[in-house]
Amino acid sequence: MALLKKTRKAEEVDRSNLPRHIAIIMDGNGRWAKKRGMPRTAGHAAGAETFRRVATYCKDIGLEYLTVYAFSTENWKRPPEEVAAIMGLLEKYLGEAIEKMERDGIRLRFFGDTSVLSDKLLSLIHETDEITAHLGKTFQTNVCLNYGGRDEIVRAARKWAERVKAGEEGALDEEIFSSLLDSAGVPDPELLIRPGGEMRISNFLMWQSAYSELVFTDTLWPDFGPKDIDAAILEYQKRNRRFGGL
Ligand code: IPE
Ligand code: IPE
Ligand code: MG
Repeated sequence: MALLKKTRKAEEVDRSNLPRHIAIIMDGNGRWAKKRGMPRTAGHAAGAETFRRVATYCKDIGLEYLTVYAFSTENWKRPPEEVAAIMGLLEKYLGEAIEKMERDGIRLRFFGDTSVLSDKLLSLIHETDEITAHLGKTFQTNVCLNYGGRDEIVRAARKWAERVKAGEEGALDEEIFSSLLDSAGVPDPELLIRPGGEMRISNFLMWQSAYSELVFTDTLWPDFGPKDIDAAILEYQKRNRRFGGL
């Protein structure tokens, strides 16, 4: 009995040693819907609900940052009906999130090239930025929309080239380059989780994940929840992070 108790205790998340920043590739919506004989878009709607639940949990346990991959630069290859459905859901959820973020003190930021999104999404993003600007330091969610890790790096390189052209002096280093990325000012994620069973990065946070601990799980994103976050944190807490040292 005593032994059993001890084992169980060892499996609990250490709340005093949480990552500051978790990043998630929200994958598996389509397969979740297919398994239930529903259209893929129903999976995206369920996935949006999961996002809400998971973000609230991350805030409640005291994380500082959550970054989620919502739409990649490659996702435009999907049928136009599916892309339109995803964009519609984003408009709906962003509209609702804006109402709540001020009340709940949740900062919302966007990573990715948002310039090509619909006028409605652009104005929602603008509105969000204005609210976020006057919110104090609290929990921050970064939503990656039309985001690609390579695209982000190329856009940062272009910004640097512009500065040099404008006469800026001094050498480029990692710190300066980081400050030109969408994630400027946000610490790198210590933990990167991919639900949905695939074991790849799919162009997510190429620069920022250099030393992230990766956790892959078969759970499809709409089925994901607080228990899965805890399981991933537990796994993270068992890792020996060496950063190239000994
Ligand atoms: C992730 O779920 C959501 C987006 C990429 C927008 P998927 O739509 O990729 O679902 P699966 O991987 O096909 O099951
Ligand atoms: C990654 O999932 C992108 C998002 C979750 C937004 P995908 O389903 O697009 O990735 P692949 O095609 O399996 O690599
Ligand atoms: Mg997928």
